[in-house]
Amino acid sequence: MAYYLGIDIGTSATKSLLIDERGAVLAEASAEYPVLTPRPGWTEQDPEAWWTATVASVRRVVKKAKLKPHEVRAIGLSGQMHGSVFLDAKDRVIRPALLWNDQRTAAECLEITERAGGREQLIQLVANPALTGFQAPKILWLRNQERNHFRRLAKVLLPKDEVRRRLIGGYATEVSDASGTLLLDVVGRKWSGPLLDALELSSELLPEVFESEDVTGQLTADAAAELGLSTECKVVGGAGDCAAGAIGNGVVKAGILSTSIGTSGVMFVHSDQPQYDSLGRLHTFCHAVRGKWHMMGVNLSSGGSLQWWVDQVLRGLPGVAEARRYDTATAEAAEVAPGSDGLLFLPYLSGERTPHADPFARGSFVGLGLGHKRAAMTRAVMEGIVFALRDSLEIIRALDVPVRQIRASGGGSRNRLFRQLQADIFGKKISSIQVEQGPAFGVALLAAVGDGAYRNIEAACKATIELAGTTDVDRRAAKRYEQLFPVYQQLYGHLKEDFRALVDFAEGT
Ligand code: XUL
Repeated sequence: MAYYLGIDIGTSATKSLLIDERGAVLAEASAEYPVLTPRPGWTEQDPEAWWTATVASVRRVVKKAKLKPHEVRAIGLSGQMHGSVFLDAKDRVIRPALLWNDQRTAAECLEITERAGGREQLIQLVANPALTGFQAPKILWLRNQERNHFRRLAKVLLPKDEVRRRLIGGYATEVSDASGTLLLDVVGRKWSGPLLDALELSSELLPEVFESEDVTGQLTADAAAELGLSTECKVVGGAGDCAAGAIGNGVVKAGILSTSIGTSGVMFVHSDQPQYDSLGRLHTFCHAVRGKWHMMGVNLSSGGSLQWWVDQVLRGLPGVAEARRYDTATAEAAEVAPGSDGLLFLPYLSGERTPHADPFARGSFVGLGLGHKRAAMTRAVMEGIVFALRDSLEIIRALDVPVRQIRASGGGSRNRLFRQLQADIFGKKISSIQVEQGPAFGVALLAAVGDGAYRNIEAACKATIELAGTTDVDRRAAKRYEQLFPVYQQLYGHLKEDFRALVDFAEGT
């Protein structure tokens, strides 16, 4: 029997997971690290923390599964997308990495759009507009704001590719994650020479691009010794966490859409051809399926909003047991009627990407009354998270992308109320898969494909992923949400200028 390892470098933790060649999960382990927020709107992490967590979690799963080093034949890497690891010529990390939800690069996004010859021209080159979280604006920010650091810059890597460098001793990425740099010709699946020229960036800064199932190298002797594995172990391209999660959910053919509620919220749809939203609200990226693409909408504070609410506000309140804060909060929210008695929550705690692309948007409760209790507030937070996903669904529907089935994943599939809210707010039945393991499972499958255990990723998904159950639409609730959704949609427009004024105020400008 051959075994495969998936490693997901997440925002709050790294998760490692071992499967056998039939896709059965043998062991999983994770190790956490903090997000640094040196200023409002900035998010950073120390790449060394990812490596420490990778080593700790891999050693744990190999030990739990009682495998011999050479039995793990290949590794797939997944990770938070868009981050920037800045390395000097000796591979030393120059400064902490900027993360996907960092919002400091509004000026650089304008600069990129201008240098590309305008928004339409930029979308022609790289299929997407410039958004603050993407990697290219971060490189320009380093050039504009930290010139001494930029002078030392020799390579820029995405988070999972920095871990790969330490595994294989070389620089490589793959098409799905590279799409989120804003430097990839997404249609041609290669770096965009014209955009690099327009930005005056050298292609030497970037790693080689592979397809997701291709082998990018093998473990170095040092890495093998540190992880307790063999130098025969291959490392395949893997995928950004959104594409990896979609693969782990079996979203590898047209008509299937998946939602994921993690820190971010993602609505992901497979496409056989590159398809664009001309307004650039949805991202068009390469899928981790060879020669295929996907579109997705991303909400920056999805499960992150519920986490903020439960950890910052409900913590320590009477009747909310510390260890069961989430379960208690969502169970009492389930008792409140759809629409939370006229209370709405906008989940823009760290700005928003889809559909507003506004780093200055902020969260808010609107409609509070004396009668509102804690449970209604929790429900409004959860409804706001799902309304934000519905914004992406509306764009997908308007583009005539076929949606035959919606599969929920992440916290949004494990929590019953979240499943029901998605069915009712989308007005469509929600499916969930048997054992939902997320991105680490998706890239473990890519590793199996890279090692030849399956012909391709479609065959691997077919052999290993089963649908478990469905959540039907409650028609009465769905009708209530149809009334409420337009109000939710209007609020951002009403508050946009005020959000900006409040951010300026908080920054003392
Ligand atoms: C995707 C995105 C997030 C991160 C979070 O575009 O920014 O989903 O990948 O891990």
